[in-house]
Amino acid sequence: MAILKIARMGHPVLRQPAEAVADPTASAIRGLVEAMRETLADAGGIGLAAPQVHVGLRVVIFSVPAERAEDADEHAEDAPVPPTVLVNPEIEPLDQAMEVDWEACLSLPGLTGAVPRYRRIGYRGLDLTGAPVERNAAGFHARVVQHEVDHLDGVLYPMRMTDLGLLMFVEEMRHGRPGARPPPAS
Ligand code: NI
Repeated sequence: MAILKIARMGHPVLRQPAEAVADPTASAIRGLVEAMRETLADAGGIGLAAPQVHVGLRVVIFSVPAERAEDADEHAEDAPVPPTVLVNPEIEPLDQAMEVDWEACLSLPGLTGAVPRYRRIGYRGLDLTGAPVERNAAGFHARVVQHEVDHLDGVLYPMRMTDLGLLMFVEEMRHGRPGARPPPAS
């Protein structure tokens, strides 16, 4: 196991579309995910995509902490989500409603931005046993999954922003924005 170096915005690996994983049960994929988990815990974030650790494969890990979930009911679409691995994930919006909220990315340390995302999505992928994972998501859960899957397509959150005046340092966010909470990074 190892803590991996996280690529920052500007490294070409973050702009390249990642390749599909042929065998999610391969020991190399399990090892990659273990190292990603360790790296994420060390960095203090809630999500990580393989390209962020210089591996161009379609693998993401994420969770939704209780303080970010909007609904405590475990069956709700925006409930807390335990640590999840998705191999070869796919997303589809469940409707066209968009929502703007703050995001932060481990590849843009110290920064945060207000990003429009689909409010509700369906997503599916495979776990490390090759079994399908299929869920509907809303709110922050939907946002995190869209952020991670964007990494697999070479997209960073500022590329989704419609107002770059809302790209800022986390340390400056409190000025004139009472109650604004720095988002967890992914
Ligand atoms: Ni990110």
